[in-house]
Amino acid sequence: MRAVVQDGYGDPAQVLRVAEVADPVVGAGDVLVRVLAASVHPDVWHVLVGQPHVLRVMGSGLRRPSPRTPGTDMAGEVVEVGRDVTALAPGDVVFGETIAGMQWRNGGAWAELVAVPAEWVAALPDRLTPAQAATLPTAGLIVLSNWPQQVEIGPGTRVLVNGAAGGVGSIAMQVAGALGAEVTGVDRGDKLDLVRRQGGDHAIDYTQEDFTRSGRQWDVVFDIPGNHAWSRLDPVVAPDGAYVLVGHDGYGMAGRWLGSIPRVMGLMVRARRDPRVAMSFEDVDKSVRMARLVELASSGGLDPIVGHTFPLEGAADAMAVLASGDARGRIVLDPTMTPDTRGQ
Ligand SMILES: NC(=O)c1ccc[n+]([C@@H]2O[C@H](COP(=O)([O-])OP(=O)(O)OC[C@H]3O[C@@H](n4cnc5c(N)ncnc54)[C@H](OP(=O)(O)O)[C@@H]3O)[C@@H](O)[C@H]2O)c1
Repeated sequence: MRAVVQDGYGDPAQVLRVAEVADPVVGAGDVLVRVLAASVHPDVWHVLVGQPHVLRVMGSGLRRPSPRTPGTDMAGEVVEVGRDVTALAPGDVVFGETIAGMQWRNGGAWAELVAVPAEWVAALPDRLTPAQAATLPTAGLIVLSNWPQQVEIGPGTRVLVNGAAGGVGSIAMQVAGALGAEVTGVDRGDKLDLVRRQGGDHAIDYTQEDFTRSGRQWDVVFDIPGNHAWSRLDPVVAPDGAYVLVGHDGYGMAGRWLGSIPRVMGLMVRARRDPRVAMSFEDVDKSVRMARLVELASSGGLDPIVGHTFPLEGAADAMAVLASGDARGRIVLDPTMTPDTRGQ
């Protein structure tokens, strides 16, 4: 099969190439999927450049990544099933993650074929294209696993999502909106149309207005960039509210060695004395969260906007668009596209 191969850590334009490699081995509990779309998101960026460096000792590979093919989530058609798989059959169209646990690893999704345990994938919801569905697993599972438990989100709940136009923020906005919350999205001015299209009742341009100085309060602050000190966040989170930090390294801005890990650890300490700080490392079964994503997508609560599609050969270009911050909507690779097709 054809696959993107990563020869080392560094500039994606230098370390990525497309090569003929052996088809994946299909285990007894696996399905072999012909990939129709695979997502391009910041966790893949981390593994491509090898930053923060700590990821190399966290399982990504000390000197070079292993496995060599990037990508953590995809949608595609099942072409073969392992001998123990009964719930799926060739011809089924599915989506899901291709790795479990720590996200800073290569998962082999940027390829024509990928083998994954059958319980990690779910049937494609009718309302979604494979490209839309491919953008959901990794980002969606991070939203669901960080979803604040201390606030019951429903009609009237005030939710603010900082970093609302990105992969994680757009899902957080839509999940909150589907529950009936009044949602405020914060992002760059030229992305506020996306924020509104994805369910934002209010949109704030972070280059013009600092939401921590607005004098307003929110019941839930779902923070992707994590660019404000706690002393500024404290007054805007309601007394019985919740603050969730996902933590975005800003493509290297947060530091080469540990990235946003120190900030997350600081909040873990704060969470011991401030119940509003939501830190969840609950290890819920992947299939349970996939079922929740399917439920949300099937009821119209999740409708991802795909802004850019590249062939496998455009993987480095796709990563450049992502890291530039200029992407409008999600970015996917489509292994069925011909190499001369540029990103659209
Ligand atoms: N996407 C995934 O599948 C996934 C899964 C697990 C974990 N994560 C982690 O979650 C983090 C976010 O991922 P993502 O996919 O949402 O990233 P993303 O697509 O790059 O989105 C981040 C958004 O935040 C905006 N932003 C930057 N600085 C801001 C500020 N000061 N105030 C408000 N908004 C600001 C960015 O806009 P600008 O263009 O202006 O910078 C961008 O629209 C990453 O660190 C990633 O490692 C992501």
